[in-house]
Amino acid sequence: MMMYPDARTLLHGIIGHPVGHSLSPVFQNAAFSALGMNAVYLAFDVSPADLGDALRGVCALGIRGLSVTIPHKEAVIPFLDEVDGDAQSIGAVNTVLNRDGRLIGMNTDWQGAVQALESATSLAGKKVLVIGAGGAARAVCYGVTRKGAILHVANRTPEKARALAEAFGGTWSGLESLDRLNASILVNTTSVGMAPDVDCSPVPASVLEGVEVAMDIVYRPRETRLLREARAAGCRTVDGLAMLLHQGAAQFEIWTGRMAPVDIMEEALAKAISEKESA
Ligand code: ATR
Repeated sequence: MMMYPDARTLLHGIIGHPVGHSLSPVFQNAAFSALGMNAVYLAFDVSPADLGDALRGVCALGIRGLSVTIPHKEAVIPFLDEVDGDAQSIGAVNTVLNRDGRLIGMNTDWQGAVQALESATSLAGKKVLVIGAGGAARAVCYGVTRKGAILHVANRTPEKARALAEAFGGTWSGLESLDRLNASILVNTTSVGMAPDVDCSPVPASVLEGVEVAMDIVYRPRETRLLREARAAGCRTVDGLAMLLHQGAAQFEIWTGRMAPVDIMEEALAKAISEKESA
C-alpha cells in the first residue's frame, strides 16, 4: 500500500483572495483518491499584489494545475505563456495547465454552465435570459451562444448588459419588464440570493411563468429563493452546485488527462455544502 503524499506527488491548487471558503479542494481531492492517484489539491490565498510571484512559483515548484478564482481571473492573463481561444473569447481564465514549464490559461466555467443546463434541457434555438453582466455572465453567454441559444442579457446597469449582449450577438435590457420576454431558460449569474441574503431574488416570480428551466449559479443555499419560486412555477431547476461541479470536472480532465469521476465529486461537494448549511 503506497502512502501519499510522497516525493512524486503531483501538485494542484486554487488561487483566490479570499479562498478559505472554497469547496474545490474537497471535491478535487475526492476525485484523486477515488482514482488512486498520487496527487493533491490545495488552496492558496494570494493577494493581487502577489499574483505574479505566485505564478512564477507555480513554474518554479512544478505545480501542474491551478484553478483561478475571484479576483484573479482576468489579472492572471499577463503572467501566462498562452491563453486558449475559449478563455480569450471570455476574457477570463479559471484554469491553468503547466505543460512542461509553459503556463497555459483556459476557461472551463462556460463548460460548467453548459453541462449543468444540458443535464436539464437542450440549448439550440432556445431563448436564454441571462441575469447579470459580470464575469460569470460572460462565461454563461459564451457557452449558451456557442450551443446555438438565442441570448438576452438583463442587468441592473443596462449599459453593461448592452456591452455583453453585443459581444455575443444578443439583445439586452434592464431588470424591468422581463415577463414579456418569453424566455425558455433563465440563468441568474448575480450574487443576489446568496446567504445571508436568502430572502432576495434577482427578478419577481412573475418572470418565471412559462420558463422551462431556471438555473442559479448561487450555491449557498442550494435552493435559493429564485429556485424555490421557479419550482413553484413548474420550472425544472438547476442549482449552483451543478456549474461548480462541472467546471471542476473539466479542470480535472485537463490536468490529468483522465475522465473525472463526476459522481464521486458531486457526492463530496453535496456533503460539504450541506455541512456548511447546517453549521
Ligand atoms: P462576477 O464576476 O462574479 O460575475 P461581478 O463582475 O462583480 O461578479 O458581477 C456581478 C453582477 O451581479 C453584475 O451584473 C451586478 O450588476 P451591476 O452590473 O449593475 O453592478 C450584479 N449584481 C450584484 N448585486 C446586485 C443586486 N443587488 N441587484 C441586481 N444585480 C446585482
